[in-house]
Amino acid sequence: MALQKVVRSTVIDAPIERVWAVLRDFNSHDRWHEVVDHSEIEDGKPSDRVGCVRNFTLQDGNHIREMLLSLSDKDYVSTYTIIEATVPLQRYVATITLKPVTDGQRTFWHWASSFATPPGMEADLRNMVAQGVYEAGFANLKRHLQLGSNAGRSHLRPTSTKPVLQASPVVAQTIKVREYGDAVQLRAESSEVPPPGVGEVRIRQTAIGVNYLDIYLRKGWIPELLPLPGTPGMEAAGEVIDVGPDVTSLLPGDRVAYMGPAPGSYTSVRNVPVAWTVRLGAGIDDGTAAASLLKGITADYLLRDLGRVKAGTRLLVHAAAGGVGTLVCAWARNMGALVMGTVSSEAKARIARDNGCQHVIVTSDYTFSAAVHHISQGADVIIDGLGDAAREENFAALAPCGHWISLGQASGPLQPISPDWLVGKSVSFSRPVAFAYVATHAVLNQRAERVWQAFRDGILLPVQTEQFALKEAATAHARLESRQSTGSLVLLPG
Ligand SMILES: NC(=O)c1ccc[n+]([C@@H]2O[C@H](COP(=O)([O-])OP(=O)(O)OC[C@H]3O[C@@H](n4cnc5c(N)ncnc54)[C@H](OP(=O)(O)O)[C@@H]3O)[C@@H](O)[C@H]2O)c1
Repeated sequence: MALQKVVRSTVIDAPIERVWAVLRDFNSHDRWHEVVDHSEIEDGKPSDRVGCVRNFTLQDGNHIREMLLSLSDKDYVSTYTIIEATVPLQRYVATITLKPVTDGQRTFWHWASSFATPPGMEADLRNMVAQGVYEAGFANLKRHLQLGSNAGRSHLRPTSTKPVLQASPVVAQTIKVREYGDAVQLRAESSEVPPPGVGEVRIRQTAIGVNYLDIYLRKGWIPELLPLPGTPGMEAAGEVIDVGPDVTSLLPGDRVAYMGPAPGSYTSVRNVPVAWTVRLGAGIDDGTAAASLLKGITADYLLRDLGRVKAGTRLLVHAAAGGVGTLVCAWARNMGALVMGTVSSEAKARIARDNGCQHVIVTSDYTFSAAVHHISQGADVIIDGLGDAAREENFAALAPCGHWISLGQASGPLQPISPDWLVGKSVSFSRPVAFAYVATHAVLNQRAERVWQAFRDGILLPVQTEQFALKEAATAHARLESRQSTGSLVLLPG
């Protein structure tokens, strides 16, 4: 008897981990496939154990028992066979294979089977499997992923024991600035966070990264970015609690971190565009993610793209014991650069050294150019978050044809730089912003993955954080401004 073959494939608009999370559960299809009415795994075995049997009834009353033959989390493949059925499918073996589509956000799903049928029923049963099972399954799973695992078929049991949050406003604790000024202007208030809009997810935040930029915003140095009243903060990590229309790549329960060009992260719950988010794997905890997503990506673009740092590059890193500084030093050292750094105390010098800074210059009054010339006859690249107080010294420290990267202004806004001044040493000057270097979601994911990998490889040391309750945001700002902090600062919603 000739075996019949049915092969169907599709592309699902969701990352492979998301699709596989559903399909690897051998007992999941009554939650997403409309032809399946009720399904149970026999003998209480786990639904991903090879040899387990799912026993299910179809909406039309038919009854099937299928056994899981193989399951590979590495290759995203599972195979199963019918061991008993009221439909005349004989020797039925099916394989599901997933492959990531190049952009990482979509998944190729291949579903193939072979089986025998009673004579004369070949075409009918091929049709039934191809359309009634596979094509309908593709459409149903797409819908299931789009609606979220808690929102699919209302008559079915929930997929999770977590409470299902309705898409209604959520009350959050939020830090508001009502007048520009000192840290005391950061005050906690209650606010309502509406359901997420199109393309957005609502996140219950567990850790919020503090960046020096937040201080510029609070002081009113960039009023167009933080009109009053406003909430500072450019990054955080947490759990997705619900998803807006058109969101297919994330579901409630997913752990994410995000960075985005519009402030507002000093809050316990926030809606953000999916395009700002990166999914967090098991190896990266929320505190690390919030402390190092923006700062790590900054180190990545500064060294790889803008500074083009390589073995032998003479690099000068200011605030070398700070959030960005420690990451830059460690990564640059691994690239073989000659790493010099400034810090304002001996205690910070130790931290800078631990993070790969070979030549630490201790100075609290922005005097360092003579030391740089002594060490290396000038710097090829300067990573400068100090701003105006270090202006003359930075120029003096540059080697001919060097590159002065001015990424911040902790000491005050940099006065305008004359092109004729730069020509004296034939140097270049850059004024970058991290958000321009994560212009697409794919690039954001790629850079974030490089940062996490650098942690996993031990190139970046486990991040040192100083933690503050969200409502103590003013204390955190005062600490960062005091020049006493080291590593990264993180706010924790209560
Ligand atoms: N453009 C971008 O893409 C981008 C992205 C991220 C960060 N940044 C910039 O990178 C720099 C570092 O940011 P971060 O968040 O990691 O902060 P941080 O380095 O942890 O803290 C700032 C450090 O600046 C130094 N500093 C020198 N003069 C200061 C002053 N007058 N007041 C306060 N601090 C002073 C202090 O170190 P010492 O006491 O050791 O000198 C202080 O610890 C900032 O300028 C920030 O704006 C830019």
